[in-house]
Amino acid sequence: MPGLFVVVEGIDGSGKSTLVTGLGKALVDHAVLSLCEPTKLASGLLIRRHLTDHSPLPQEAWLEMFGADRRIDLETNINPALARGEIVLLDRYLYSTAAYQGSAGKLNAKEILHSQTNQFRQPDVLIYLDISPEDALARVSATREKLEIFETSHELHRIHSNYEEILQEVAQEQAGPTLIRIAATDSLDMNIAKAEKAIRQALSNSTKRA
Ligand code: TYD
Repeated sequence: MPGLFVVVEGIDGSGKSTLVTGLGKALVDHAVLSLCEPTKLASGLLIRRHLTDHSPLPQEAWLEMFGADRRIDLETNINPALARGEIVLLDRYLYSTAAYQGSAGKLNAKEILHSQTNQFRQPDVLIYLDISPEDALARVSATREKLEIFETSHELHRIHSNYEEILQEVAQEQAGPTLIRIAATDSLDMNIAKAEKAIRQALSNSTKRA
């Protein structure tokens, strides 16, 4: 049976990791591998140090670091799991790079999206957890002692509008992933059920194609 590549995206505080955990439990009848980017590998830990240090880095440096981490993640984790027929649930992927690293006056979100989709395989399903920057910041501030570099109101507004731009592009792409938008403020159970339904549908479509 072919595997299924599912990516969950959203701004900080949207509840991606809670959704991924809930989905893992809902899909117990399948082999599921839950992963995140930045990864837990050395390449991802280096990025996390920069995020918490608030080191201001040039756009190129972030692109290189996230790109290297993603290449390693595909090679060591994602591709082998898909080849074994597993469902890969990935918390953040190339859409985060477009939304977070895309910036006016430098490479913008759409330009990064195109360059990333040329370099890396596309997922089968893309789940976007939508939340307002205000609600997201309130959630993050309540649960964290120290905020990361992108967790300010100004940054979250920029990232939120970048996501809107790139999701429009993704929705128009013929060969792109199935896009599922979820309101992060709806109940968790409802959101898990909606995402699970889309994943099961995609699984049955890919089984029919295989
Ligand atoms: P996240 O998983 O939201 O962090 P946490 O584990 O603290 O909840 O991701 C960490 C940060 O990395 C987040 O602010 C978004 C950022 N990021 C990028 O800027 N570009 C990327 O390509 C990726 C994958 C993450």
